[in-house]
Amino acid sequence: MGIGIAPAKTILFGEHAVVYGEPGIAIPLWEITTTASFQPFRDSDRKRDFHIHSPMIGLDADFSDIPVNLPLKKLIIRLMNLLHLTEPPAKILQIESTIPIASGLGSGAACSVAVIRAFFDEYHSNFDDAEISSIAFEIEKSYHGSPSGLDNTTISFGKPVYFQKGKGFEILKLDSKLNLIVADTGIQSVTSAVVQDVRNHYEQNQAFIRAIGIIAEKARPAVEKGDVQEIGQLMNENHDYLKKINVSCYELDLAVETARKHGAIGAKLTGAGRGGNFIALAEKPSDMIEIKKSLVHIGAKIIL
Ligand code: MEV
Repeated sequence: MGIGIAPAKTILFGEHAVVYGEPGIAIPLWEITTTASFQPFRDSDRKRDFHIHSPMIGLDADFSDIPVNLPLKKLIIRLMNLLHLTEPPAKILQIESTIPIASGLGSGAACSVAVIRAFFDEYHSNFDDAEISSIAFEIEKSYHGSPSGLDNTTISFGKPVYFQKGKGFEILKLDSKLNLIVADTGIQSVTSAVVQDVRNHYEQNQAFIRAIGIIAEKARPAVEKGDVQEIGQLMNENHDYLKKINVSCYELDLAVETARKHGAIGAKLTGAGRGGNFIALAEKPSDMIEIKKSLVHIGAKIIL
């Protein structure tokens, strides 16, 4: 049975600016994952056409009935070509996920990476993380026209990365584990729309985008060393600039302020913004209880 697993990701620094070539820092979240696996049909199943079952996106259909413009269909056609398959597998592709969708944690890229890995496992093909990432990147382009590549890179390699579009990336070694809370506003947002909006106002946003890049540059040594005070301070500054480029919203601002008021050293939105998730950094694990309590009180859902 071919199987593929991919983690979620959270962007610590640099979302949106990374689309314009500024550096970004992201880490995988292995506690929440997407799993794709090939399952045989049961004896009672009448039809035996390649079938996709993905409750997270409400998809339960034969492959032939799925519209070609769906990124998942495009991905599978790409994989079939790559693997020289003349016919789709007579199996069920089951896709299960604990990653909230449309909320900044890379659910789309994780779905692609899990499916790619499942196909390669099913057909005993050896592809490395870089090849997996480049296929996932092609599919990211169907979700939104100008992805930076940060999501697919972090998720395919499954390691913290310092990433710069057009220049490549480096895997970061973190000296210590961050006491990071990830929580969801419950508001779904469409990455492509937010990215497009930032682009539409590029003239006004340009200086802020550069400022976000400078923050990511400064944050790199702090993240590697685990300098919590510096990371927290830079997270707060990063959130302020994300507000300036108009990708935050009332709920995200309330959430980050609440987290800070209850002991977080730093807090910011993560991902595309206008809803979705945010992150808050605590100095010690014991501080996390109070911060989480305050976030639940304002209606946020604790993811990690
Ligand atoms: C989305 O997770 C991150 C953005 O910076 C878009 C991208 O990097 O492609 C908003």
